[in-house]
Amino acid sequence: MLPAARLREIERELAKYPPEQRQSALPAALRIAQDEHGWLSAEVMEFVAGVIGVPPVRAHEVATFYSMFELAPVGRHKISVCTNISCMLRGSAGIVAHLEKKLKVKLGGTTADGKFTLREAECLAACAGAPMMQIDREYYENLTPERVDEVLEKL
Ligand code: FES
Repeated sequence: MLPAARLREIERELAKYPPEQRQSALPAALRIAQDEHGWLSAEVMEFVAGVIGVPPVRAHEVATFYSMFELAPVGRHKISVCTNISCMLRGSAGIVAHLEKKLKVKLGGTTADGKFTLREAECLAACAGAPMMQIDREYYENLTPERVDEVLEKL
């Protein structure tokens, strides 16, 4: 279910906690599993729970609590456009409209080629760079349609 290198990553996370607190490594272990598979199926969550040594329901609880976990297949790159107040005042609606037109997908959707999933996000704490978007783990700020095009061309 996970290659040896990913299991070693999980072991490193487990080593940060005392044996009776192994479940504290669950968020990191699920993130590692998601990095490998792109999303967390019930089978993957059950496997991770087994590695940690907790009941599968514990992995499910963590995975459904944090929005960073995907419970269904998504595109290879996740684009999250902030539409909260600072970004809204500085034109996030235009950025969303540009992305929807360019990618031919509505918010919440995944492009036909499976490359991008487009989402709306609440404040991502980069208000000074509004409007902004996050793609995977990178932030892109002070966006214009032209800047969005430049970013996407490099992916
Ligand atoms: S409102 Fe968009 S990053 Fe804060």
